[in-house]
Amino acid sequence: MVKVEIMASILVIDDDESIVETLDLYLTEEGYTVRTALTGTDGLNKYVQEASDVVILDIRLPDVDGFAVLEDLKEENENVKVIMITAFHDMETTINAMKGGAFDYIHKPVNVDELDLAIKKALKSLEMEKKIDGLLMEPSRNFRVGDIIGTGNEMREIFKTIGTVSQSRTTVLIQGESGTGKELIAKVIHNNTSPDEPFIAVNCSAIVDTLLESELFGHEKGSFTGAVARKLGKFELARFGTVFLDEISEMSVNLQAKLLRVLQEMEFERVGGKDTVKVHARIMAATNKDLRGMVKEGKFRDDLYYRLNIVAINLPPLRSRRQDIAPLIDYLLSKINLDLHKKIIGVSGEVMEIFMNYNWPGNVRELENLLVRACVVAKGQVLGVSDFPDLGKDSAILPVKDDTADIFTPEEPGKFLTLDQVEERYIRKIIKETDKNKGEICETLGISRPTFERKLDKYGISFEQE
Ligand SMILES: Nc1ncnc2c1ncn2[C@@H]1O[C@H](COP(=O)(O)OP(=O)(O)OP(=O)(O)O)[C@@H](O)[C@H]1O
Ligand SMILES: [Mg+2]
Repeated sequence: MVKVEIMASILVIDDDESIVETLDLYLTEEGYTVRTALTGTDGLNKYVQEASDVVILDIRLPDVDGFAVLEDLKEENENVKVIMITAFHDMETTINAMKGGAFDYIHKPVNVDELDLAIKKALKSLEMEKKIDGLLMEPSRNFRVGDIIGTGNEMREIFKTIGTVSQSRTTVLIQGESGTGKELIAKVIHNNTSPDEPFIAVNCSAIVDTLLESELFGHEKGSFTGAVARKLGKFELARFGTVFLDEISEMSVNLQAKLLRVLQEMEFERVGGKDTVKVHARIMAATNKDLRGMVKEGKFRDDLYYRLNIVAINLPPLRSRRQDIAPLIDYLLSKINLDLHKKIIGVSGEVMEIFMNYNWPGNVRELENLLVRACVVAKGQVLGVSDFPDLGKDSAILPVKDDTADIFTPEEPGKFLTLDQVEERYIRKIIKETDKNKGEICETLGISRPTFERKLDKYGISFEQE
């Protein structure tokens, strides 16, 4: 796992060039990203262009008063951490600085230990605020690669992809039916890439268009009725973390165009604003719709689709990886036991059989919900059929649809499949859905190894054996 280290950023605003130079050298050496300004106006402009975590601000500046700069910075971002420096030693300036919302106050000549301490305190406080805002995920037992259960070839490929994309900040598109674990995968990738930065999920379907726009991009004070203060959008709040755009297929065409620009140029303007804001966050998107199909129908921009689809992760539905059902039950039960203080050890053979034959339209989430409900009512340590009152009774439990029995070509409904086509489909299905090795597949198909190889060749099926 490669952790992308992102250092805190500091903006130094002081008219004394020698101080600015010394601080620049010293703080850069300490590993911070440093920018400097010799006037209040320049400092403010730099901050507006791109926010810094901490601002070191001289009180006496040639153009504007340091207190006025402090006020403007606060207006810009009320959580900004400003450390004031000055040559004055009187009580009044100190009190004024603190009243004006400065985070700390130190005197000239600057003592580096004192400055160090103030910066560390400011960063710590920033982190606490982010935690309180719910922007940082709790380092949890649930978002590590080990928390994704999957044993088949397809899931193994997905693990590899997670490893690769965790070393970069490329855009990832996660596709899969509902409940297949799209958000889980996004969180694991995030935690492998930038665990100390925010993970912000935005559901693109839940909010009306204009609201979603201001959620994503933020807005300036007065940009519309009700915009009583500047509000930062998710792209800004996510900093160097992740913006997870859930249900991306639901985004309006108007917003699709704006998002495209973010992906192309990594910058945007707040609603009602002129300043260009830089985006550092990584963008991931998820959908349970056929996005490519929507592109063909003209419902989703193709250029946006290609920008999002730099790396695609396609999560298979649970019914096509039944070998994961048993390990998922074990995993989910241990999680549920912890939460509910229970000691359930498993499901009965009868339940298992029903599960293995069920088609799981709600995928892992459905399995999890069924288990939680059963655990709540269960008396014994093994969950039996009676612990699943919904099981078998209502239409939720459907017979498995066996699509190998389909006799028509999907491309041309009404046209029957040839025997070769049926054979090819069947072989592909066995390879894809069973996680069997070559020997086992030959046995299942009742053919010899050379015959199997010939058939792979004939149908152009590649089958890598680890
Ligand atoms: N492979 C897996 N291993 C362990 N837990 C999983 C796995 N896949 C999904 N889950 C669990 O199933 C639940 C649903 O997953 P998640 O919310 O990520 O699905 P989703 O694809 O985003 O669903 P939806 O489309 O409904 O939003 C979560 O509690 C998640 O932790
Ligand atoms: Mg989801």
